[in-house]
Amino acid sequence: MSHDLNPTTIGIGLLGCGTVGGSLVELLDARHDEIQRRTGIDLRIVRVAVRDTSTPRPGVASELLVDDPRAAIDHVDVDLVVETMGGIDGTLELVDAALGAGKPVVTANKALLAAHGPRLHEAAARGGVDLALEASVAAGIPLIRPLRESLVGEDISRVMGILNGTTNYILSQMTEHGAGYADALADAQALGYAEADPTADVGGHDAAAKAAIIATLAFGASVTSSDVHTEGITTITSEDIALAGRLGYAIKLLGIVERGADGRVAARVHPAMVPETHPLATVRDSFNAVFVEGAGVDQLMFYGRGAGGHPTAAMVLGDVIDAAINLRSGTARSVGPLPPADIRPIDELSSAYYVSLDARDEPGVLAAIAQVFGERGVSIRSMEQEGLGDQARLVFITHQATESDLQATLEDLRGLDAVKNIGQMLRVIEA
Ligand code: NAP
Ligand code: HSE
Repeated sequence: MSHDLNPTTIGIGLLGCGTVGGSLVELLDARHDEIQRRTGIDLRIVRVAVRDTSTPRPGVASELLVDDPRAAIDHVDVDLVVETMGGIDGTLELVDAALGAGKPVVTANKALLAAHGPRLHEAAARGGVDLALEASVAAGIPLIRPLRESLVGEDISRVMGILNGTTNYILSQMTEHGAGYADALADAQALGYAEADPTADVGGHDAAAKAAIIATLAFGASVTSSDVHTEGITTITSEDIALAGRLGYAIKLLGIVERGADGRVAARVHPAMVPETHPLATVRDSFNAVFVEGAGVDQLMFYGRGAGGHPTAAMVLGDVIDAAINLRSGTARSVGPLPPADIRPIDELSSAYYVSLDARDEPGVLAAIAQVFGERGVSIRSMEQEGLGDQARLVFITHQATESDLQATLEDLRGLDAVKNIGQMLRVIEA
């Protein structure tokens, strides 16, 4: 059936016209007629808020540009707001205002959602409109809708994946092409993968925000960025990558959220050693992949582009269409109450670990080091030694141990006179 006759016009106020907003304008222009034919909705951009209105924006008439985001929310012809400008503090008030005015909001802003998700979901429920966030996690992968809808009845135990395109791109470039960290990061920025402040990517905070959103939806309890143990990739060197490769592992930045039998939620983002035979080890470039484990579904895997204007805009557009259809029919989908999750601290994590250190190459040193591991109850699974003149680089992989025991081991090792430097500690993912 064609909907071309008497379409419903939905006016869009677009906040931000950079990598994602600009790609949305392009995509909407290309897909407008087909969307109208399939849904009966005529999507029109009414106002576009940017910082600098003097910069030409391809596909946007200059009279639509405003530098006050409120003007793009409050305009009488704006029915729905798309937030692709980023930021937390000022943006919170803007999104709140739009929802309060009964205008659905589509956002790609994980930092905002991970800090203030419950407040915004409540505002959407009060306003009786949608707060749609598909693009906020893993960019071009449809993951939020499966979590909110298809899996809402599922007993999910764990979600684990590569949640940041920039860092996966950097690690892939370093692993496969021997690229330097700084050059790979500059490429990721030029390709539109990185956040406005790329320390959010390389420091693990962007992935932590996504992990918080995933945990909130998967477990139906509020998890914020500050609940997520967060480590980035800034300490990973080309040497670590080469050493990991020799041992049969790839280094990946992972986000892992779990709910234990006691109901407590553990959420963490850190680089990890992933066996080369594990599907996550083969996820390259800006791609992301997410595993969901549940009692009924067993295992699901989602894979796709984790960053970039067009993949992200595709998810924003899907949300816009969905929210517009709901607006036309006077319905909305809310996520329900989100009590704070009971968080399990990282100290209680049980994992295998990789530890590299430099020590004096003398009789008795290895025995002293092994004794420290043993005294802390950390069992060594394998050890490799490489000579470095009068020193040796020792690389250990442990059996499962608790994080607190491993950290205590590292502390004791630092106190040994023969140990010159603790190089790297990484959690090891089992095959
Ligand atoms: P971006 O390229 O820096 O674009 C931001 C846009 O917002 C720019 O047009 C900027 O105006 C405008 N803007 C910022 N602050 C403003 C203010 N106070 N008033 C008016 N306009 C303002 O950023 P982006 O990469 O598109 O990211 C936007 C959002 O999408 C962020 O929340 C990000 O986390 C999220 N996201 C990004 C990606 C990605 O791959 N890039 C993927 C998923 C989600 P000017 O152009 O005048 O500076
Ligand atoms: N900077 C983010 C990333 C964009 O690299 O994954 C997608 O959320």
